[in-house]
Amino acid sequence: MSTPKTVVVTGATRGIGRAIADRLAHAGWRVIGTYCRDHGEVDRNRPHAGNVDAVPAIGFVRMDLRSDRSVDAAADAIAAHTGRLDAIVNNAGTTDDGAFLSMETGRIAALLEANLFGTIRLTWALLPLFRAGSDASIVNIASLAGVVGKEGQVSYAASKGGLIGFTKLLARKTSRTGVRANAVAPGFIATEMTERLDDGMVRHIVHGTSLHRIGDPGDVADAVTFLLAARYVNGTTIKVDGGFKR
Ligand SMILES: NC(=O)c1ccc[n+]([C@@H]2O[C@H](COP(=O)([O-])OP(=O)(O)OC[C@H]3O[C@@H](n4cnc5c(N)ncnc54)[C@H](OP(=O)(O)O)[C@@H]3O)[C@@H](O)[C@H]2O)c1
Repeated sequence: MSTPKTVVVTGATRGIGRAIADRLAHAGWRVIGTYCRDHGEVDRNRPHAGNVDAVPAIGFVRMDLRSDRSVDAAADAIAAHTGRLDAIVNNAGTTDDGAFLSMETGRIAALLEANLFGTIRLTWALLPLFRAGSDASIVNIASLAGVVGKEGQVSYAASKGGLIGFTKLLARKTSRTGVRANAVAPGFIATEMTERLDDGMVRHIVHGTSLHRIGDPGDVADAVTFLLAARYVNGTTIKVDGGFKR
């Protein structure tokens, strides 16, 4: 029996990250998830839904992307736990919407700290865990806002655009050692992040989407699964937006 591959999925407690972690665990990966808020022991080390015997629980490490110390501690804990990695899915992220001209720079910096700097710091810290010559892969969860911009999301769009640039740099740098890097840019996906959208906004989004529906977290997991397996795809960003027309 071959050794299972190991993947770190950040922000694996809910929404898109949870769907990715569950999908990969079902496919036989060893998954190390991260969480930020305290969800309690049971939720953190949840047995896998449906088939508790066949699929090992997803292990969890606490990490707050806004804190260098927390990111470094999480990277150390992951290294101590596994010794080697086959993939990272940088999914954890947050948003802070507001009108551009009234947004204080401190708020912008705080969001960049979490979504961009924290993600870059964690990635650098984990890179030594990839073995040279292996088929390893990094997938960064960006956003449609980082590709086309989005009203009221200045810091979020900047953080996600930065993540796409970082992905391209990684793809050039790390491919020398066999590590591919790609990004996924979801459109509107039904999670806690988007549940506060009012009905009018949801109607507007559905109307503007060729597939006439909001996405679900599994739609993003589909693209991540593809990118982890696609051995000749490097430095690209896949939009998962149901064909949203602006
Ligand atoms: N939903 C969408 O429509 C959409 C669209 C485009 C892109 N995205 C991106 O997809 C990713 C997942 O989004 P989602 O909708 O699934 O969001 P979500 O339901 O709000 O979940 C966010 C996840 O990120 C973790 N997290 C939040 N702040 C963190 C921090 N400071 N440090 C470490 N972890 C943190 C959360 O952990 P806790 O549960 O422990 O707080 C949670 O696991 C994000 O990067 C988001 O920007 C989402």
